[in-house]
Amino acid sequence: MPLEPYDFVSPVWREGIFNNKVVFCTGGAGSICSAQVRALVYLGANAAIIGRNVEKTERMAQDIATARKGAKVIGIGAVDVRKPELLQAAADRTVKELGSIDFVIAGAAGNFLTTIDNLSTNAMKSVIDIDILGSYNTVKATLPYLVESAGKHKTNGKTAPQNGTGGRIIFVSATLHYQGTVLQSHVSVAKAGIDAMSVSVAIEQGPKGVTSNVIAPGPIAGTEGMARLSKKENLAAANKAVPVGRFGYVKEIADATVYLFSDAGNFVNGETVVVDGGAWHTAGFA
Ligand code: HXC
Repeated sequence: MPLEPYDFVSPVWREGIFNNKVVFCTGGAGSICSAQVRALVYLGANAAIIGRNVEKTERMAQDIATARKGAKVIGIGAVDVRKPELLQAAADRTVKELGSIDFVIAGAAGNFLTTIDNLSTNAMKSVIDIDILGSYNTVKATLPYLVESAGKHKTNGKTAPQNGTGGRIIFVSATLHYQGTVLQSHVSVAKAGIDAMSVSVAIEQGPKGVTSNVIAPGPIAGTEGMARLSKKENLAAANKAVPVGRFGYVKEIADATVYLFSDAGNFVNGETVVVDGGAWHTAGFA
């Protein structure tokens, strides 16, 4: 069923703030990343979403394009983020077809539930490769384009950039490793690595005008992650464990994305925005 604007639009957003911007998003056909991209497209951006499954990726691209009349959204399928050459080709194609890469969302991830004693070496490696190496490959493939984009928005250092932003990265991480989460050793290790990578990118690439931040979603309703990780009978109890008394909505991850990529986020670099209703502060939520 097509989304109505009130399903994904926040009343505090301002239309047109991302005009002439292009977002490149891995994992873009997934529930959280597609909501992030949909928001940016609604607010003026064009987009390339990258995924492993060709049909799912192309279908999602067409769907996101309906968020704004005239939007260009390309779905680039058959791209495994573990293969740097495929990501490079996707980045180059994006610039060829859409003109630039101004924003990157590194969102591709792998997950399943298992204790560490039942985790095979290959299973651990798969998740680390998808999450950490995949994010690294994404940064490597897009960084020259991001530096170029940031250069267009440089000021003389005396004033804050006023006319739009560029050269921004968001890594999609998690809160699992803040306290320790059973059945999630592999993902905790991977997400901790992603958090560290974001800080390194932030301090090394900041002088070139590129900023890097992490969004750490908590329990978000209707996502693949929640479907994989939660049993139905546990959901009601989990709901109660979130201090604000409910799960989040994908739109609320989109809100944080709009903030970080907008002029409102110009001076935020190397930070993590946790969007979880306060869940990780409670001992019980996992
Ligand atoms: C134990 C498992 C397993 C499971 C796979 N493996 N599933 N081990 N329990 N449920 C093992 C396999 O046996 C194999 O090890 C190794 O993992 C690799 O499996 P493959 O299927 O060959 O790998 P691949 O096709 O690359 O698939 C990667 C994957 C898969 C991670 C295993 O689940 C995947 O592609 N997921 C992508 C989508 C996804 O997970 N999205 C959710 C993101 S949610 P052996 O030893 O047998 O060779 C998210 C949210 C986090 O990240 C935060 C939540 C709050």
